[in-house]
Amino acid sequence: MLRGSIVVWVLLLLGLALGQDTRVVNILDPSTAYNREVTRLLIWVSVFAALIFIVVTGALTYTVIKFRRRGNEQGEPPQFHGNDRLEIIWTVIPTVIIVIIFGLTAQSMIANARFPAGAMTVKVTGYQFWWDYEYEGLGIRTSNELILPVNKPVIVEMTSKDIIHSWWPASLVGKQDAIPGITTRLHFTPEKEGTYYGQCAELCGASHSRMRFRVIVVSQEQFDRFVEGAKGFQAPAATDPTLAKGQQLFNQQCAACHAVKGTANEANRVGPDLSYFGNRTTVGAGLWENTDTYLIPWIKNSPGVKPGSKMPPFPQLSDEDARAIAAYIKSLKIEGLDFEGLPQF
Ligand code: CUA
Repeated sequence: MLRGSIVVWVLLLLGLALGQDTRVVNILDPSTAYNREVTRLLIWVSVFAALIFIVVTGALTYTVIKFRRRGNEQGEPPQFHGNDRLEIIWTVIPTVIIVIIFGLTAQSMIANARFPAGAMTVKVTGYQFWWDYEYEGLGIRTSNELILPVNKPVIVEMTSKDIIHSWWPASLVGKQDAIPGITTRLHFTPEKEGTYYGQCAELCGASHSRMRFRVIVVSQEQFDRFVEGAKGFQAPAATDPTLAKGQQLFNQQCAACHAVKGTANEANRVGPDLSYFGNRTTVGAGLWENTDTYLIPWIKNSPGVKPGSKMPPFPQLSDEDARAIAAYIKSLKIEGLDFEGLPQF
């Protein structure tokens, strides 16, 4: 136990030293009414736990010092059996504490069990190791980065296509398992524009820790632009030779698994939908910045940088080929969207 936690701390510090994205999921910085309930409950429970810790360790320390062996005392000290007053105290106090915590918990659970009326519904599907998003009633979908309008309630309906995952954007809402064959639900209302870090929170295989995502909360105007652009999305004509080559390679190597809206493969669901990949801020399911530095090695050998990734390596692709594919998928873009400079949560 102790050794385990030392290992975790050493790894965390190593990650910080190596400049990895070690953003810690922080539930003490709630950004929604849902999470304020959870945080309030957590603080109350922690206060009680701290009081119990102080009283118990205080009594223990007092006893050890007060009743220690002194000088040349010999034999056992006087023995006592039973003390009605003490027994009543240590039965009544914990009972009261448990009743209070039960009441606070029930209050938070009831508050968070109320689903808002008129909310937008997003269907989240977990796959090893990425996320698919479908906006109900809008006829659009995306993957890994969920775009939402600020101050609009959203209901998230979750399931999984393989094993159990858990979708957890820590500052927005509590975590919820995504289970094959079952639909689980959550709701929240984002209150601040920003990019919210999310993490799969259920051990799901070799790249569980690398199954991340983002929730990008934007103004209503930006969201409307996204919806409009996504609805009428057409892959732009590959004008220059690099893009044309990239498009051709993409159609040969990638399109069997990845959907691009407005092409023959728009229904493919083996891998993430890449329709507006040019708007994506991250690559590899929230792992790295969406730049060629990360994108090229990812295209050439995905399992080499993300163990367990279902995307096969493509040893036959040259750097130039991979660069052309990267250029092509980055050209798949809805114009007028700007996610740069959003605060990070
Ligand atoms: Cu998916 Cu852990």
